[in-house]
Amino acid sequence: MKQNGQSIGIIGTGMAVPKLKFKNNDFVKLGLETSDEWIASRTGINQRFIAKEEATSDLAYQAAENAIIDAGIEKSDIDCIIVATTTPDYPLFPSVACLVQNGLGLDNIPAFDISAACTGFIYAMEVAEKMMSSGQYKNILVIGADTLSKSCNWKDRSTVVLFGDGAGAVVLGEVKSGYGILSSKLGARGSGFDKLIIPKGGSRTPLTKDNVEDDDRYIQMDGKAVYRFAVNTIVRVVEEALAKIGMKKEDISFLIPHQANIRIIDYAREKLGLSREQVYVNIDTYGNTSAATIPIALNEVCSKKLIRNGDILVTVGFGAGLTYGTNVIKWFSK
Ligand code: ACO
Repeated sequence: MKQNGQSIGIIGTGMAVPKLKFKNNDFVKLGLETSDEWIASRTGINQRFIAKEEATSDLAYQAAENAIIDAGIEKSDIDCIIVATTTPDYPLFPSVACLVQNGLGLDNIPAFDISAACTGFIYAMEVAEKMMSSGQYKNILVIGADTLSKSCNWKDRSTVVLFGDGAGAVVLGEVKSGYGILSSKLGARGSGFDKLIIPKGGSRTPLTKDNVEDDDRYIQMDGKAVYRFAVNTIVRVVEEALAKIGMKKEDISFLIPHQANIRIIDYAREKLGLSREQVYVNIDTYGNTSAATIPIALNEVCSKKLIRNGDILVTVGFGAGLTYGTNVIKWFSK
């Protein structure tokens, strides 16, 4: 969006995943009553990467470094760091953003986390863009990073097979006038807070020696309710964001949806009237990496040169909260 004479867009992307590749059949080897066929056909996932020795900030830092190199700027050109995550290294504080800032040696610039689950990266993009629109910031590092495998019950086949770990990062900076982020729309439906939740371990029910073994210290999900929420929300929010700038779904060149389930992605593609070539899918390789799915996809789309200057790129996501959101970007790369 052009404000204070500045159009704000993505000038660099990066990503990182943990070392350990974990295939669907590896769950069977662990004794889980599931199959490669069930997981692949219901979700589109074939494998994911699992963080064993890595913490969220390790992946976030690597992704950030790659994005800064890709942007062709110095680390010292970054003037704010925002990390979208729900799986920080430490339970409450410090934030992952402060850990990344320390790694980059950028003491004194603002650094903070945003909690909007799988929609976090889209929320963070909107916040960063509005901060830059004020004219006070020139290059903001926006990172989506999560290690949800550590919050899954590895005995619960209905959730553990869905998630993978990873991080993606972008540098937002000034782009050619009229390009960059054109519109965003964020939303939440707090009435569905209990559809995707970790019930214990927070201030509502702290862990004690009596409940520390309870299953609900892990992710609990009403999969069908989340599915319904996603299909009812994501097409509408994209259309609303486009309408704000006088565009329609026919104007979309390329869609990067949150990678949670191939059937949700296919639903959005059909409703938005897009071809398979216009929708990026990598859920088969990474699973649902939560706040990282969209920036990881952005990095791959850029590396593979799948979008050209002037293309209208739309990202859309949904997640726990229940949250949802979209960014509409007129692509420009140097
Ligand atoms: N392997 C084999 N069988 C399984 C597995 C598994 N991994 N998981 C569940 N099943 C079984 C169930 O027990 C059930 O058996 P039953 O019929 O005997 O009771 C059967 O398969 C069907 O289960 P459903 O839950 O009805 O399966 P469904 O078709 O709804 O698919 C899924 C489940 C894939 C989770 C789907 O509901 C979904 O994708 N929902 C959206 C979830 C989502 O997007 N979550 C991420 C949100 S983002 C965030 O913020 C973290």
